[in-house]
Amino acid sequence: MIPWLLTACIYPCVIGPDFWGLLHGDWRMCTAGQMQSPVNIDPSQLLYDPHLMPINIEGNIVEAVFENTGQLPVVTVKDLPNRPTINITGGPTMPYRYKLHQISVHFGRADEGEKGSEHTVDRVRFPAEIQLLAYNSALYPNFSVAMTSPRGLLAVSVIVDIGKTTSVELRRLTVASQSINYKGQTTNLTDFQPSALLPKTSHYVTYEGSLTFPGCHETVTWVILNNPIYITNDDLQIWNEMQKTETKQPEPSYMTPAYRPLKSLNGRLVRTNINVGSKQSTVSSSCPSNVYVEMGYQANPGRNKRNDSVSRRYVPTSEVFEIDSIRPDDVSKAGSF
Ligand SMILES: *[C@@H]1O[C@H](CO)[C@@H](O)[C@H](O)[C@H]1NC(C)=O
Ligand SMILES: *[C@@H]1O[C@H](CO)[C@@H](O)[C@H](O)[C@H]1NC(C)=O
Ligand SMILES: *[C@@H]1O[C@H](CO)[C@@H](O)[C@H](O)[C@H]1NC(C)=O
Ligand SMILES: *[C@@H]1O[C@H](CO)[C@@H](O)[C@H](O)[C@H]1NC(C)=O
Repeated sequence: MIPWLLTACIYPCVIGPDFWGLLHGDWRMCTAGQMQSPVNIDPSQLLYDPHLMPINIEGNIVEAVFENTGQLPVVTVKDLPNRPTINITGGPTMPYRYKLHQISVHFGRADEGEKGSEHTVDRVRFPAEIQLLAYNSALYPNFSVAMTSPRGLLAVSVIVDIGKTTSVELRRLTVASQSINYKGQTTNLTDFQPSALLPKTSHYVTYEGSLTFPGCHETVTWVILNNPIYITNDDLQIWNEMQKTETKQPEPSYMTPAYRPLKSLNGRLVRTNINVGSKQSTVSSSCPSNVYVEMGYQANPGRNKRNDSVSRRYVPTSEVFEIDSIRPDDVSKAGSF
């Protein structure tokens, strides 16, 4: 409709994510949508849902293409007959089966201390976020159809924090990223192991949201894992070399930071399988907000408390959503796959 706007936006692109909805009819959801992503996860507002099962990743090694799209580094799993696949089952999207389609990496600028995760926890942004996007293969033939359809997509999000060593599979991706510094460059990953990018935890939070890139379709069930994986500062610097341009420019146009601004929850529930309530029985009798609410969800002890410093008193720190409290010392646990 407005091609000049898109051409005017070659590089550096001055049209930020907040204007996506105005650029193209199919991107209307980016501005009109009310169930958009990413969001801030407020640990005091989580609802414990005992029916949330762990996520299962089936399959191991796949072939994939790693591409610099000019916006993000994206790994796309080769979706061909008789090729290995990764299925994701369980979790909040049970009983459907999802097929892993792509993995995108969002990062900040290491040298400037700028963080790049899309989701924040308690308003804290993290150095990077890896998102595994899978489509509902029980209902839809491929990613493109699922993307615009109900119950179409599942996004599993891994927060990346700075540590003493880089987790093995992320290190391999980091090395591969050096051959796709410019837009349009691709490299083949012949033995890519997506499950090795996940931290060793079955704990997560989940909510219904959208794609964080145009057309921002509200078809995504988000799962944000409760532990980070780690990357060294030096390796994060390597990702920072990613450029938005097809060739080397006198004034490099770097990809970072590549996150969409936070969107409001607008009343959406954020559920968790972290049982923050079970050990609260003595507290619950004295804490009026710690009650079972509709649909069998158990409210967190701190829920409905406006004043954070009051609610925190009732929530032992070991039991709250704890991404923020895990430090690089845990790297030996998280880094060995
Ligand atoms: C994934 O699910 C499909 C059926 O949809 C099945 O054919 C395939 O073998 C499964 N892959 C793995 C790795 O379990
Ligand atoms: C996805 O499936 C639809 C319907 O079968 C088909 O029209 C479309 O070309 C497919 N898209 C891709 C990218 O394979
Ligand atoms: C990746 O593999 C495809 C075949 O699957 C091949 O056509 C292409 O040239 C390869 N790309 C690179 C960069 O090696
Ligand atoms: C929150 O509660 C604490 C302790 O009761 C109090 O000192 C503080 O002023 C309150 N903060 C706000 C913003 O109401």
